[in-house]
Order: sequence, then structure tokens, then C-alpha cells
Amino acid sequence: MKHLLGIEDLSRAQIERILDTAKSMKEVGGRRIRKVPTLRGRTVVNLFFEASTRTRTSFEVAEKRLSADVINFASSTSSVSKGETLIDTTKNLMAMRPDAIVVRHASAGAPHLLARHVAASIVNAGDGAHEHPTQALLDAYTMRDKCGRVEGLEVAIVGDIRNSRVARSNILALARLGAHVRLAGPPPLIPPGIERLGGRARVTVANSADDAVRDADVVMMLRIQRERMTDDQAFPSLREYAILWGLNARRLALAKKSAIVMHPGPMNRGVEIMPEVADGAQSVILEQVENGVAVRMAVLYLVLGGGEAAA
Ligand code: CP
Repeated sequence: MKHLLGIEDLSRAQIERILDTAKSMKEVGGRRIRKVPTLRGRTVVNLFFEASTRTRTSFEVAEKRLSADVINFASSTSSVSKGETLIDTTKNLMAMRPDAIVVRHASAGAPHLLARHVAASIVNAGDGAHEHPTQALLDAYTMRDKCGRVEGLEVAIVGDIRNSRVARSNILALARLGAHVRLAGPPPLIPPGIERLGGRARVTVANSADDAVRDADVVMMLRIQRERMTDDQAFPSLREYAILWGLNARRLALAKKSAIVMHPGPMNRGVEIMPEVADGAQSVILEQVENGVAVRMAVLYLVLGGGEAAA
């Protein structure tokens, strides 16, 4: 595995290998000294052309726990603001001989373009509305951790499916791992034929949020991706959205009693998720963030060819 560009490139066995590796990486996070020498002498560039809180910081924590040298690049303070292109920016960074580049970009396919032009391993940290593979991997890890398995789970994903790279990567990963995904959201935000992404046996579109959530094992809420929306995707009001599609205590009570509540963040409290649910006993939202460090350690370890064992 030289690159991680998307879940669409991964087999079930590869996904499971990443999740198994993440389990041993998580153990490192529980130690008094949370550091192993695995990537000592390797350099990783975090190349972020879009805003990020969780993904950028958890990649940096993951890299430092593996003892890599870390370079953080934010487009707003770089020569991108003077008109330098993605390829020129990356070629200049490559002249400093990094081993891996973690990239987030507003354009779908940007990590794939880099993978064709540079020698370093490329890890996709989110490309437009296309994929966010490490988010889906940390979500699958969290489901496996909390529910004991992913195979056979009923997973409701509710919200702006159309503009969500998290939804696309999760549909691919969950279908490959044998879960059943129920999608729900305002009709303009559900792309026609989305079921085909994971196969019709694995993915269905529900008529309402209640239908999606009823008897689910996992309820994953997504925010409205206003930054990617076009005029034809408009919906009446946030208040109406919250009533029809938001997760509140009444709606969550339709799910299994053991159901977990997930959200990739950032949350819009009072819109797609109400505070009583986001902060409630069934929420695993901050555990997702914690697991993100272990999963990103596993990905970096695997794309950089292993090395000294984490243990
Ligand atoms: N889940 C996620 O990608 O969050 P950030 O945009 O804060 O990285």
C-alpha cells in the first residue's frame, strides 16, 4: 500500500488490516510515554488547502507518536496565495525529500493527481465531495470497538449525503465490511443512484429520518456542507431541517437501545444534532476523534512500509 487515496481502492482484507494495525497503535496512546520509534528519520508533510481541526491535528499527533519529522503547510500562509499551483507547490516541497504527503484539497482527485507526479506516498485527508478515507476507517474502527463487529450492523447515515465525502467513503467501507447502510436526507441532498456505490443489497435510501433510524445499531449524523452547495440544492430553513432531519432524543429512541451516535464533526448543534444527543450517553463522537489518531498512525505505518514494530 504505497498510497491511501480512497476506500474505493481497498479490499475488505486491506481495510481489516488497517483496523487491526490501529488496535495496536491505540495501545501506544495509553502508555505513559506515548511515542514509538517506528518512523524515526522519515518526514511527513501535512498539506492542507482547506480548513480542518480534527484531521490535521490528529495526523500531526499520529506522526509525532511515530517519531516522524513533521512539516505543517497551510495554504493561507503559503505562496499559494500568490498564485502558485498545487503541482508546483508539491514539487517544491518534494525537493525537500519528504517520505509522505497528507493532503486535503477542495478539488476531487487532487491526491490522485499528486500520486502521479511525485515520489512520496500520498494520503488523502479529504478531496472535495469525493472521499475522506481515514474518516471512514476511524468510523469503522469505532463501530467495531463499540458494537463488537461491523458485519451485519444497520447503520443510518442522515443529512447532506450529496456533498459529503464522509458519506461516500463510509458507504464504500461499510458495504465492503458487510454492514447495511440506510441513507436519509432532504431529496435534493440525496444523489440519484447513490445505492449503487455500495451495491443495492448493502445500501438503501429511506423516506424519512425516522425510517432510517428505526432499529438502527449506529446513527451517524452529517452536517449541511454549505461550502459545496449549489442553488438547486436549497432547502427551506434550518428550523425545518432540524425538525425533519435532525437527531433529537425522540428520534434516537426509535433506534436500538444499544445504538451509538456518531458525527464526523464539525457539528452544527441545533441543526442536524441536538445537544441532548450530542452530549448524551449514546454519543461516541469524541471517541471517534481519539480513534482517529490510532487509525492515522496505522495508515502512515502501512504506507511507509512498516519498519520497527510499534510494540
Ligand atoms: N471530520 C473532519 O474531517 O473534521 P475536520 O474538517 O475538522 O478535519
